[in-house]
Amino acid sequence: MQFRDRLYQIGGTEGLQLVLPSNYLGELKTLPEDVLSAKAAIADALQSKYTKFSPGHNAELLTLLLRTRLTQNLARLAPQLKEEFEYIVATEFPACDDWTPVKWHPFALRVITQLSGRAFVGPGINRQERWMDTSSNFAIHVFVAGAKLQLFPEWVRPVIQYLVTDLAKIRCDIESAKAMIKPVLEERIRDLDVPSCQDAPDDMIQWLIEALPEGERADVQTQAELQLVIAAASIHTTHGLLCECMYDLAAHQDIQEELREEAYQVLEVDEGWGRKESMAKLKKMDSFMREVQRLRGNIGQSVHPSPHPSTDTTGIPSPIKDALLTLPLVSFLRKVMQPISLSDGTQLPVGTRVVAPLAGIAHDERFFPNPDRFDPLRFYRLRQESAEANNRMQFTSIDDTYVNFGAGRHACPGRFFASDVIKLVLARFVLDYHVRLRPGEGRPKPKSIVMTKSPSSNAVLEFRRRS
Ligand code: HEM
Repeated sequence: MQFRDRLYQIGGTEGLQLVLPSNYLGELKTLPEDVLSAKAAIADALQSKYTKFSPGHNAELLTLLLRTRLTQNLARLAPQLKEEFEYIVATEFPACDDWTPVKWHPFALRVITQLSGRAFVGPGINRQERWMDTSSNFAIHVFVAGAKLQLFPEWVRPVIQYLVTDLAKIRCDIESAKAMIKPVLEERIRDLDVPSCQDAPDDMIQWLIEALPEGERADVQTQAELQLVIAAASIHTTHGLLCECMYDLAAHQDIQEELREEAYQVLEVDEGWGRKESMAKLKKMDSFMREVQRLRGNIGQSVHPSPHPSTDTTGIPSPIKDALLTLPLVSFLRKVMQPISLSDGTQLPVGTRVVAPLAGIAHDERFFPNPDRFDPLRFYRLRQESAEANNRMQFTSIDDTYVNFGAGRHACPGRFFASDVIKLVLARFVLDYHVRLRPGEGRPKPKSIVMTKSPSSNAVLEFRRRS
């Protein structure tokens, strides 16, 4: 609380990071990219120059496709995702006729990778083990390569890059993605000229073919790189939250029953599985997910904190030791490209890196009364208060005090998809299974790794099929 509402800095391997309290977010989030850049901040954080992690000149197109072709068609995608999910459960989840121990983290990763793949590369590719490995490991290779490069000063990186073996893994991932996408892409391009009475395929490969400039639509390199960028942005973030949700369901039997009743009414009694508005009707589940995300954090965006105290040249305090102990999770990574003068007179020179702290905001009692209490129906109750609150408190709603999906023009365009996917999995599971912690064990604790938080990967939960 020492730095509440104040700017402060923490040391990072790319220099100081300026941590923004929410009262500054409003004036910064509307600034254009050439003044305050998300692209440059991500390029630094993930060392895009070496890792090639960047949608390049197609960044805006990609975001547009996620906002339009993906988000506006979630209802159409829902039956495909449901079918895919049921296939995974039938083929990979144990019968659970009696209480059965299951390591949830790896199973959930396969679920999210396969479901995302269904929407992005389509049914011809998404179940291939090679695609599952490549699409889920690419982000890890980028993250690790970026972290290793940042251990060295910028001027050594052009040389040291040859010693970072993870960069070779990234190149392998791209080649592997190309090999899998190539035959599908060639067939799709051929089919463009053939009149057909069948509907065109409905996945990101097709949306890109239709939207990319003429010279790039048949380019497998472009398709592969963009597909891997989407996979990296979507899989581990969604998987992280799904794990934390399941751990909280297992730890809180009362909310499990409450969500089961709601899902039963909306999806089974009202036969809502195939209906457009059904996921939005799961309001208790929506509130539960937002509360889990608020408190457990998520795999946010990565900034690697420096173990070396940095010198403060701007007069803004640097509680580096605190930061290293508490590892604030961050969102809204930006880099100042033109000098910025804040309303209180603070000057942000070119090159300043800014971040918004997730944990600092989430534990602020002015925004969330009794903030440390896990209250799964907190947002459900608030939504009853007014039509405005009903909109503002949804899982996918963002504002200056809820930055888990970022803020402003770069706020996450995939959050509506993530929301529906997580609801699908949780709803199916509460309807079909009881879940609990293993006797004598507590709720699995998240781990903090270089300013990201990730769910326990070893936790074992017990599941029993409902009769
Ligand atoms: C629970 C799951 C997710 C979380 C917590 C999450 C979080 C975030 C955050 C914090 C940002 C940065 C926003 C900013 O800087 O203002 C972001 C950006 C982005 N996310 Fe997500 N995300 C999730 C799921 C997804 C999914 C499923 C997709 C793809 C379908 C996706 C695609 C993207 C893209 C493309 C961007 C970059 C947008 C831009 O720079 O304009 N995300 N996400």
